[in-house]
Amino acid sequence: MAKYELGQKKVFKPKAKSPLKKPQDPDSFVLRALLQASPHYLSGNYLAERLKMSRVGVWARIDKLRKAGLSIEASQNRGYRLAGEPDLLVKPLLNAWLKECGVSLPFYLLKNTDSTNSEAERLLASGQKAPFVVLSHQQEEGRGRMGRKWHSPKGGNLYLSLAFRPNAELVKFRNFTLWQGISIGQLLKDQTGIKDLSVKWPNDIFYNNQKLAGMLTEASIDCDQVRSMVFGFGLNVNSSAKSFPKEIRDCSTTLKDLSGKNWRVHELAAKIIKVSLQAARECLEQNIDDKLKQKWQEMDYLYGKRVKIRNGQETFSGKALGIDSSGGLRIKLRNGRERIVQAGEVNLH
Ligand code: BTN
Repeated sequence: MAKYELGQKKVFKPKAKSPLKKPQDPDSFVLRALLQASPHYLSGNYLAERLKMSRVGVWARIDKLRKAGLSIEASQNRGYRLAGEPDLLVKPLLNAWLKECGVSLPFYLLKNTDSTNSEAERLLASGQKAPFVVLSHQQEEGRGRMGRKWHSPKGGNLYLSLAFRPNAELVKFRNFTLWQGISIGQLLKDQTGIKDLSVKWPNDIFYNNQKLAGMLTEASIDCDQVRSMVFGFGLNVNSSAKSFPKEIRDCSTTLKDLSGKNWRVHELAAKIIKVSLQAARECLEQNIDDKLKQKWQEMDYLYGKRVKIRNGQETFSGKALGIDSSGGLRIKLRNGRERIVQAGEVNLH
């Protein structure tokens, strides 16, 4: 639970809005009002007036939100205040944060699943209108690139997948994952103040030599058109890499490990969804190649490092020189020639 600190226990006075229309989604209205007031109290009278219901009615709504996992304090003279946000995602609070960020799209929040990417694919196959998001508290078979597993325990981390039906040429999406990495990486830098986050070609967000987040884009293509696409994102947030399996413990990190504090998972999820939707739109509507090349230079983890590349049976090494406009990794070989890598596993040499 991310706790709010409270200095003076003030009562927050929201600016009067006119005309006072009854909100369409009362739960989300209450939570947004509490979020805006936080860490202060919000008067029960204000909520009753805005929701056009009795104070008992407001109390019943607050009680329902508490049962959904929210910690809301009540004080007779001051009203209600959000005392903290749960570490496990809850629907009404995610809804409120999405609205707060100006994002409107359907989301499916699961307690458990095999993989949010697989769940999104099943929903697409069943005809669900896109875009939409699938999130889960944990994953039994979270997966990464090249058949790897994604460690997905319950509590503290984010596992989410955005599903699209772009029906557009494949070439528009050749740099999709790299652009998502730059966009979300920048968001995480801005939100957390952790300056040294970088992107590791092609799908990781790193801090020094440790992995913080991973991306997995899977698409269904027909006649060179991307029919549907799922972008999966896993971020280690409030867990500690010390608790990870020993094979990945030393090369992983979490936002909590890096900053020493807990982060609000609902706010992060909503902002990541917003940025990811925007990045997908940019891929579809603009030519992002030049912008990507420039931004990649600023966040490139591998630049100038000696790397070893494994692609199928082939292994070779060289010095990483950034990306070309197709998003391929430029490698300077020992013989002075340059080679572009489009796929494969890259490790420091
Ligand atoms: C990688 O590091 O190779 C990519 C990891 C991607 C993990 C995310 S978690 C949400 C989504 N569901 C999955 O099964 N994988 C992605």
